[in-house]
Amino acid sequence: MDKNILQETAKKMMTLPKGILAMDESSPTIAKRLASINVENNEINRRRYRELIVTSPDLSKYISGAILFEETFDQKMEDGTLFRDYLNSIGILPGIKVDKGAKDFSCHPNEKITEGLDGLRDRLAKYYEDGAKFCKWRAVITIGKDIPSEGCIESNMNSLARYASLCQENNLVPIVEPEVLINGPHSIEDCDKVTRSTLHSLFRNLEMLNVYLPGTVLKPSMVISGEDNSSRADKDKVANMTIDCLKDCVPNDTSGIAFLSGGQTDCEAEEHLNIMNKNHSLPWRVTFSYARAIQAAALATWLGKDENLITSQSILIERASRCSRASVGEL
Ligand code: 13P
Repeated sequence: MDKNILQETAKKMMTLPKGILAMDESSPTIAKRLASINVENNEINRRRYRELIVTSPDLSKYISGAILFEETFDQKMEDGTLFRDYLNSIGILPGIKVDKGAKDFSCHPNEKITEGLDGLRDRLAKYYEDGAKFCKWRAVITIGKDIPSEGCIESNMNSLARYASLCQENNLVPIVEPEVLINGPHSIEDCDKVTRSTLHSLFRNLEMLNVYLPGTVLKPSMVISGEDNSSRADKDKVANMTIDCLKDCVPNDTSGIAFLSGGQTDCEAEEHLNIMNKNHSLPWRVTFSYARAIQAAALATWLGKDENLITSQSILIERASRCSRASVGEL
């Protein structure tokens, strides 16, 4: 592990006023996205869609790094350039999602455990050699009756820490993503409680496994009411409770925080981030690592048709530019 390399990469990922673009939808997720616009889910269409994203003009003004799914990391664009080389050439760091997905957790009904540690060391060495600069691993925590269990939180956070230490051994910055899901009728206070337990467990496990925090990026969910709650907390409350929670749980030497959007509308995702940056003095950079809140409107405009490409790209850039401004509290 070379701490200088890790710290330098993490700093670049956290460059003002940029954020990280998540375009690493796994095979089942990209299938859903393409089905939503009636486009066949095949390798060519996945390549066309992702090429639309990365070739959007001026993307690197707003985006410091892009998280790719392994297929895209090894895929060529229409002109034969590898996606990862193209991103490098426009000043966007290429990263890769390395977990193998959240699977049913044995003996824990309705809970998930993320798999992918077996063989990870060798995969990471190869990704670094091929030019990856950082990785992502997503753990999901579900709020419901009698869940999350301590076993689910602890097992997932320990896996995140094991993944992070393997990344750092290979000079790759780990994005650690503990997502507390928005699904359900829970209150913002329930979400706060679960997010705190999750983050405390995460940082305890990271410390136990000697993970270097200045070379680590946290990708959390916000503290927010469940999507089916009938009296959802307003945007100031979401922003303020999220920052209070993070200040209590995240050590100051963590290199930075980049939120997932997690099913929030585009408007919510950018407003919450804007308020956090406008109204609070923060010990770390707080930015975005959105997938849906940057891509959704562009996808719905594209519809798989070449004639919609330019309009779709301009919508994507408008989203990226608004999130960029929110990341410095200037929206
Ligand atoms: P969303 O912003 O759509 O939640 O996706 C972020 C992500 O990378 C989920 O793993």
